[in-house]
Formats: sequence, structure tokens, C-alpha cells
Amino acid sequence: MTSPVDPTTTAAWAELEELGDGFSPDLRAWFADDPGRAERLTFSLADLHVDLSKNLVSDDILAALVRLAKETGVPERFQQMLAGEHINTTEDRAVLHTALRRPAGSPLTVDGQDVDADVQEVLARIEEFANRVRSGEWTGVTGKRVTHVVNIGIGGSDLGPVMVYEALKNDDEPRIEARFISNIDPTDLAQKTADLDPETTLFVVASKTFTTLETLTNARLARDWLWTGLEQAGAIGSDEASRTKAVARHFIAVSTALDKVAEFGIDTDNAFGFWDWVGGRYSVDSAIGTSLAIALGPDAFREFLAGFHAVDEHVRTTPLEQNVPVLMGVLGVWYTNFLGAQSHAVLPYAQQLHRFPAYLQQLTMESNGKSVRWDGTPVETDTGEIYWGEPGTNGQHAFYQLIHQGTRLIPADFIAFVNPAYPLRDGERDVHGLLLANFLAQTKALAFGKTPEEVEAEGTTGPLVAARTFEGNRPTTSIFAPALTPRVLGELIALYEHITFTQGVIWGINSFDQWGVELGKQLALQIAPAIEGDADAVAAQDASTRALLAYYAENRR
Ligand code: F6P
Repeated sequence: MTSPVDPTTTAAWAELEELGDGFSPDLRAWFADDPGRAERLTFSLADLHVDLSKNLVSDDILAALVRLAKETGVPERFQQMLAGEHINTTEDRAVLHTALRRPAGSPLTVDGQDVDADVQEVLARIEEFANRVRSGEWTGVTGKRVTHVVNIGIGGSDLGPVMVYEALKNDDEPRIEARFISNIDPTDLAQKTADLDPETTLFVVASKTFTTLETLTNARLARDWLWTGLEQAGAIGSDEASRTKAVARHFIAVSTALDKVAEFGIDTDNAFGFWDWVGGRYSVDSAIGTSLAIALGPDAFREFLAGFHAVDEHVRTTPLEQNVPVLMGVLGVWYTNFLGAQSHAVLPYAQQLHRFPAYLQQLTMESNGKSVRWDGTPVETDTGEIYWGEPGTNGQHAFYQLIHQGTRLIPADFIAFVNPAYPLRDGERDVHGLLLANFLAQTKALAFGKTPEEVEAEGTTGPLVAARTFEGNRPTTSIFAPALTPRVLGELIALYEHITFTQGVIWGINSFDQWGVELGKQLALQIAPAIEGDADAVAAQDASTRALLAYYAENRR
């Protein structure tokens, strides 16, 4: 195992501390004095046009940040990841999500596994199955074609599929609607199935481990819903054989644990596997995307994978100075560790990306929310950017006030597309053009602000001048692309995967485990009997939990 480098001991860190000391950014002056700034700091990443020029960095700072990535071993760690070394140290696993999107015929053997053959074999099975559902060859137990595919999963087995579906769903034929059930709150399943016909519904139970409480509970509820619905309609009998047949036609599974899939009663012929070297939050491009291949079509899924691969290739082959995910990663380190930023906004100017910030929250925060390094030693700096956001322009009318004039520094990524999904006009006006005008206006206002003199020149006087002044120097990155296609979406996801990777290596942490979610899961299992009224389980709780349980017992109808 290569030991992590404590970033605070590097020469680059010391240099950055010096550069950050008394740092006083002035984007107005920087742009005025340097006509080449925008061009120099704008990069191409596959189909993405990425403008970093409105970030709070000089060339010196950016160069020192790149040196920090080098001194902490980012390129070497990336190579180790691609080669299948066990860089997920606490679970002793390779980290190979990049292998899921390589073109067929790219040999890679890891731990005795022919990775390429296995990936291509599963992909071909998913495509074949998706085509059968889409053509109507695969039907429900009563012979009707599938109209709805319902993915049951949580975390990485939900957030990716739902985000991608929302981004790419369209009116193309055959129209198969996808729905996503994740929460153990029974409301989720009750509402999502309320208007569905069991005869035309196909469930995809998606769980890497096939042990997750929420998913397995929801899968059992869905199975009961299916049986009850079919039986009430007289479509099947209530005998074991009829029920087994119904599950075989209405349930498929995605998992690394095919033995557990069989235990649940799903035919493993209708199960699609993946491998322990795919982390949950890195799995949307694995069989976890089966619901997407069905609803959007296998061609779209292939194109999606090609987008990821294009970015992987950029990261693999581009010097760090032009390597966009690395540059965006080090910018996040600059803001977090040197300028005191506490969070990072992601603001898609595309309604279709409304779940993208939620997706990124798991990707980045489950990956880098750690306080020990991969050798178990404590980190010396803050880690893990806090991602949040909403689509523009909705956010403008909610929280942008704080980004513009609040006391906190919030770097923000703006994401926009030249061409709209729906080219609607308001009279003569292209409405998408108005959306884009807002995107450009916000990044401009955040960067350059409005001086007191400019406010006064508009006739404002007295205390109102301060209230209407915008300091500017609020950093933004603009990510622009021709259109939100499957390929571009794959590129965007891969971009953030590699930003997360870069930061994880700089901080010296294992971005591929998630031990921090375990304690709550264990305690929930211990508390469940107390909810049911088990006196010993109640007595075993702390005073606050006991009081909350008493409130529950008094008020439960
Ligand atoms: O609890 C966190 C987590 O393990 C995530 O990392 C994962 O994506 C999610 O649960 C779901 O796990 P599974 O796919 O095994 O059901």
C-alpha cells in the first residue's frame, strides 16, 4: 500500500498558505488587466466547454494547486485505480468503475477476473433484456406488455438511475415510464404504485449487497402488492405456483449477490450482476442502470457510457495543467482549505437536472466525508466539500441572495446547455434564451458585483447604497455543452467522479468506503423492537430516546 502524503507537509501547501495569506481577489481588475484570462482559463473536456476564469485564482495559485496534486500523487493513484490495485484499502478491493465504460476488446485482468469479458457479457444481457421489454416480447404474467418499470433501490442503487431518468426521459416510442422507490417510509411505495396496473408493471430490485433494509422491505411490499392486485383481478390464483410465476415475469434484480437474489425468489436468469469493485455511488453505469436501458433504450445507455469513457480518457492522457477534473478538484481544495469555504453550490440551468445536486451529494460526500486517511492516521485539514443546489432560475428566487451578498464564500458551478429540450417561444421570444441570459447574468453579477459608485450613479443615496452594493469576487465555474444528451450526461457525471477522486487523493483519504453509515443502520435494528413496545429494548435506550419512544407510544393511532 502506498502511504498517503500529508498534504500539509508538501512544499506546494506551504506556498499556497503564503499565497492565501492576506489574499484579496479582484476579478474586475484581473479581467481588465489581462485580456487573455478568459481564453487561458477555458478548457474543453469532451463535449463540455468549461470556463474556470471566474474563479478566485491567479496563474501562480493555479500552478501551486497543480503542484499540490502532483506532490500528493494524484496521477500515480489514478494509474493504480485503472490498473485494479486495491486502493479501497479498508475493504481490500479494487476500484474499477472506469472499466464499466471502456469499449469492448480492452483487455484487463484483475485478481484473476477477465474484467472486460465480464462487463461486456452483462451489458449484452441487459441490452437483450431491455430490447425484449421494449419490443413487447417480454410480457407480464397475463401476456400484457410492460408500461412501467419501477426501480426499487436506495443510495447509489437509486440516486443515479432516478437522476439520469429525469434528465433524459422523452416522449419517444415505445413509451415505458420509469419510477423509483427508495425510502422505507411506506408513503413512497404507496404513492408510486397507487395508479399502476400490476399486469403491466415490472419491478427492478437494485441492491449491490441485496441486504439493505429499505430495499428488501420495499421489494417484499411490492411483491405483496403484485400478488394482491393480480389475485383480486382474477389474473392469477393464490397458490404458490401462480405466485412464483408472477414474480418470475414481474421482478428482475440487479446485484453483486446473486445467491441472495435467488433466496428472495427472483429467477437468477432474470438477474444482472456487477462486482464488488464498483462502489454504490459509482454504479449508475453498471447493471444498476438496467431500468434506464429499459426506459431510455440500450442505444442511449451505450451513448451514456461512451460519455464517461471520453472523460476517463481525458483524465488519463491530459497533463494536469489542462486536466479539467483535476483543475476543478484542486479549486475545491483551494476554497475549502485556504479560503474557508464551507460549501459548494451546483446550479444547473436545466430543469431536467433537478436531481443532479442530490446525486452529487452522495458521490462527493459519501466519498470524501472522512477524517482519517487511508492508512488510518487522522487528517490535518478539512475534507469533503458540502454540495448542494437547485436548478436555476428557481434558486435565484430562493437562496442566491446569500451567495451574492452574504458573509460566506460559496463557490458555485453553473451548468447550462446551448440547445433546449423544449424549444418553446413566448411570442417572439425564445424562452430558453431567457434561461441562458439568467445563467450568464448570475455568473457576471457574482464575479464583478456592483460598486457603491455604480449604485449612486443610478440615483440611490444614504444607507440604501450599502444595501444595494454587490462586492463581487464570488467564484463560479461555467460548464456549457451543446445539449443534454446521454453522452453529455455521462461526461458530466465522470467529471464529478474525477473531481472527487482528485480531492480524495490530496486529502489522503479512501474515497471508496462508507463506514460512517453503518452505526445508524445497526442502531435502527436495535431500536426497532422498542418501537414495537418491547420493554427491555425501551429500557436499553438513553433518556432522550426513551422519551421520544414514549411520545410515539402515546400518540400512535
Ligand atoms: O448505506 C450506504 C450504502 O451502502 C450506499 O453506499 C449504497 O449506495 C446504498 O447503501 C445502497 O446499498 P445497496 O446497493 O447494497 O442496497
